[in-house]
Amino acid sequence: MHSPFIYGKIASGETFTNREWEQKRLSNNIASRINSVLISPRRWGKSSLVARVGHAIEKRDTSVRFCFLDLFNVRSEQEFYVQLTREVLRVSFSKWEERIESAKRLFKRITPKFSVGIDPVNDFSVTFDWEEVEKSADEILDLPETVSKKRNIQLVICLDEFQNVGYFNNPLMFQKKLRAHWQHHTHATYCLYGSKRHMMTELFEEKSMPFYKFGDVMFLEKIPETYWVPFITSGFKKTGKRIDENLAARIAQEMENHPYFVQQFAHAIWSNTNKNCNEGDYHSALNALLTQHGILFQREVDGLTNPQLNFLKALCNNITQFSAAETLHTYKLGTSGNINRIKQSLISKEVLDITPQRIEFIDPLFKVWFSTVYMKQ
Ligand SMILES: Nc1ncnc2c1ncn2[C@@H]1O[C@H](COP(=O)(O)OP(=O)(O)O)[C@@H](O)[C@H]1O
Ligand SMILES: [Mg+2]
Repeated sequence: MHSPFIYGKIASGETFTNREWEQKRLSNNIASRINSVLISPRRWGKSSLVARVGHAIEKRDTSVRFCFLDLFNVRSEQEFYVQLTREVLRVSFSKWEERIESAKRLFKRITPKFSVGIDPVNDFSVTFDWEEVEKSADEILDLPETVSKKRNIQLVICLDEFQNVGYFNNPLMFQKKLRAHWQHHTHATYCLYGSKRHMMTELFEEKSMPFYKFGDVMFLEKIPETYWVPFITSGFKKTGKRIDENLAARIAQEMENHPYFVQQFAHAIWSNTNKNCNEGDYHSALNALLTQHGILFQREVDGLTNPQLNFLKALCNNITQFSAAETLHTYKLGTSGNINRIKQSLISKEVLDITPQRIEFIDPLFKVWFSTVYMKQ
């Protein structure tokens, strides 16, 4: 039997919940041709949200085409141009012959070379002569707009892990170039998202940065418990099993409403449950997850200094006044001047997420392991 829970993949159909308001805001932006910027830590549901909005819009309006690009592995301007060109051509023309023919007309000063594989519809790649591109990059940067106009469509260019443009050579120059072109596009729309909150906010919210005020900036939140409880109980019910609302709520609480981890934990419990989920099923699933990730978590703590570990212990003990003399003493945190350094290093090691409202473990399962297994040993 298929699990009603999914993690590590795009949540869609019945495995998707909540986000009504965010879906509306994103699709309104697209309909009004307003660019959007979506920011949240990884695995909170950005890709799933954009994919869902994309499917819904494409279903009711065939003149809107979503073009998805993931910059996760893109580390240079050249790779970016190749991906952008290939994907724009791929979603705008269904036949590969048409793509190549049109590209000849769309590019005037650049002559891209194409190669097609065994499956020409999907296996389709582009290469450029870099000297030509250096002189005429605008032909590529304007491609979404040119194609949208020519085909009478609206291309929605979705760029995942957009903060990676910050790693390109001369990132500021590149961003200026992108912005200078894209701000004039009225037929193509952009949706840029990323999971490095600090890099993303710097790119889009600093006045001195080229992408300042480029679009509607949305900070995606986690999914509230009130959505998880019916989501989990109905997932069990659909598959002939049962879990009561109390246990369902505890799944969400234990994983701090983190979308990926709630689904992962719910799946583990579901697999463990014969028919009626009980306390024992809950605990054995949690223990199995902790054991499964134990080596990884141990390696993670091996990479931390004593003050960093002590800070995490204080956090697990619900300490909030880290600079208080008593806390500094009890947890051996050194001077109060140390606290900021510790926080910064735990952020850059991707252990903690710190906003003005709260300090949180990025990985709630690691927090459970840290406070139950590590702190008790
Ligand atoms: N709206 C949602 N409803 C239910 N689960 C979700 C939702 N969004 C995300 N998830 C869960 O979180 C996981 C990561 O989602 P994803 O969209 O890939 O996040 P991101 O792009 O922010 O890294 C999914 O595999 C799924 O388990
Ligand atoms: Mg994603």
